Order: sequence, then C-alpha cells, then structure tokens
Amino acid sequence: MSQKKNKAAWDQIAQARNNFSKVATDRECRDPLGTLDSRGWLPRSVAGLDVLCLASGGGWQSILYASAGASVTVVDLSPEMLSLDVREAKRRELDVRAIEASMDHLPMLGSATFDIVHQPVSTCYVSDIGKVYAEIARVLRGGGLYISQHKTPTSLQVTRQCSSNEFVVGLEYYRTTSLPSVEDGRYREEGAIEYLHRWEELVGELCRQGLVIEDLREPYRGERFAISGSHGHRGRFVAPYVRIKARRLPMS
Ligand SMILES: C[S@@+](CC[C@H](N)C(=O)[O-])C[C@H]1O[C@@H](n2cnc3c(N)ncnc32)[C@H](O)[C@@H]1O
Repeated sequence: MSQKKNKAAWDQIAQARNNFSKVATDRECRDPLGTLDSRGWLPRSVAGLDVLCLASGGGWQSILYASAGASVTVVDLSPEMLSLDVREAKRRELDVRAIEASMDHLPMLGSATFDIVHQPVSTCYVSDIGKVYAEIARVLRGGGLYISQHKTPTSLQVTRQCSSNEFVVGLEYYRTTSLPSVEDGRYREEGAIEYLHRWEELVGELCRQGLVIEDLREPYRGERFAISGSHGHRGRFVAPYVRIKARRLPMS
C-alpha cells in the first residue's frame, strides 16, 4: 500500500523536476567526489569500486560516482526517477545499472558485492528500517562503507508553528503507524507515506546489523536573520537531517 503510493508520488516528483530530480551538471561532473563528499568521508578515489546508490534515482549520485570511475548500480522504487539516471548515463556515455526495487528487499543483488552503499534521504518511506540495514549489511563487502542521510525524528514530529512562533512537537515519538499529514509539511513529500524512525532504530539498528559508526553529522540549515516561518528560521531550532558514515566490519 505505502509502496504503491510512494512510487506514484516519486514518479510525479521526477516529472515535476524539483531539487530531488535534478541530474548532475557538467560542473559537478568535473569534480564528482568533491561534489558528493564535502566531509571527506569517501576514499581518495572510487575508480573501479562497486557502488550501490540506494533509493537514489534522479540522476545525481549515480552520475557523479560513474563520472569518478566507479562501477555503479542504482536502485529505486520509482521508474520515473530511474529513467533520469538511465537517460543521463546514456547522454554522458557512462555505464550505470538501474534496478527498480524496494530498498528493503534486494534479492537481485549478491551478498558482499559492493564496496560503498550511498543512500540519500529515503528510509522514511519504509516502516521497518532494520530490513533496509540488513540488506545493506548483506550486500556490503567486509570493510565496505555505508553513507546515508535521514530525516530526524524531531523534524518529523513537528506539526506546526504556534502563534508565539515556537515549533510544536505534535506527533508522538513512539508510533507504529505512518505519519499523518500535518500543517507544517515542508520536510515531507506530497502524496508520500512516511514513517518516523526513532534514534534507537536509526543508529541502534545499524549497530545491531554489524555496522560500525565512524561519524555522524547534523547539517546546519539555519539562517541567523531568517524571517519567522522560513526554512532558515526553522533550521535554527530543528535539524531536518542527520548524516551517518558507517562501515561493515571486516568478515572474520
Ligand atoms: C530524496 S529522493 C533521493 C534521490 C535524489 N537523487 C537525492 O539526491 O536526494 C528519495 C528516493 O527514494 C525513492 N524511494 C522511495 N521509497 C523507496 C523504496 N521503498 N525503495 C527504494 N526507493 C524508494 C524515491 O523514489 C526517491 O527517488
């Protein structure tokens, strides 16, 4: 049910061409690793490495990794998002394998076949993040890197801004159902079904699947003089995203 809705929502976003469906530019492709990796989490070169861009359709990550010489597989639920990767790879004469699948069920990918899994914000679209991490742990080689970004729980709990301009944490933290639509839906995608993952799931489940966390950042999205109600204002109070660098323990 949620998969069907999310596929339709993302097919529409792909056609509307917003920030998430912007393909990599020529300028970005001239410095692909610098563009992908402002934090220095990636190795100096990814040439020849097997990279899985997970839930990463839209022609940005896949094209950049392929431009850097990696052997790239991109998995996404939305055929329209994937078509941007395929079209752009063809135009640039890059080799990118595109697979339509859900991130929590990847039987078409062999175990221990990737050196890097890169996942942009997307775990909010599945109810059980543990299943996603289990697949990532399975497909990564020992010592392989998992780089991901997620919506923070608090950001997903915010429902609105009240009359005194404070942000209202209006949704319960401990929940098993998907998130209802809210007045302040600016970090939500229209038509998509989303789930809140608690820190014990976002971080704890990663550890339980045998990955070791090497770094964790909350990119600052605040602006000092932003007007009340703007993204920059909200960003001073609530971090919208968390980025995690984790590594699969080497197989013994
Ligand atoms: C925020 S976009 C990420 C893509 C984008 N290239 C970026 O730079 O952020 C989230 C992606 O997750 C995909 N998605 C949603 N649910 C999914 C699922 N269950 N399995 C795989 N991909 C899914 C969407 O189709 C969409 O392409």
